[in-house]
Amino acid sequence: MKLTVNGTEHEVDIAPATPLLWVLRDVLGLTGAKYGCGIGQCGACTVHVDGVAERSCQIPVGDLWGAVTTIEGLGTPDAPHPVQAAWIEHQVAQCGYCQSGQIMTAAALLAEVPEPDEAAIADALWNNLCRCGTYPRIKTAVRSAAQKLKEG
Ligand code: FES
Ligand code: FES
Repeated sequence: MKLTVNGTEHEVDIAPATPLLWVLRDVLGLTGAKYGCGIGQCGACTVHVDGVAERSCQIPVGDLWGAVTTIEGLGTPDAPHPVQAAWIEHQVAQCGYCQSGQIMTAAALLAEVPEPDEAAIADALWNNLCRCGTYPRIKTAVRSAAQKLKEG
């Protein structure tokens, strides 16, 4: 089957019931999206499908409905996405395991709601779990990225 990831079309020979997360990590070698819970509860596996944050552990690849963007396709080290830049500026990560999911969720939020209030930020990110407890810095970085995007 064919799927488009980070702007490149791939042909994969894999059972349609295989979770998208497995295809990204094991077939395409894109290991930014992480396996946390496997049951849609933690958000570590979050990617964008047609720009919307989705849990890749819950999408059978045969049911995929759009183009996928992973953390590897969001920005580059030389030209990070504003959310990635804010994460670096505010040194959000601790162990880092949850962080690509947090960033993908935040980037999808800001694409949809450029000036989110505290409630919108909390609502978007409440079920992206971080065992290290980086939530205060995540919120600071989201506010910072929103401000930078507003300033252009
Ligand atoms: S690994 Fe997908 S939500 Fe936890
Ligand atoms: S930074 Fe360790 S789980 Fe979030």
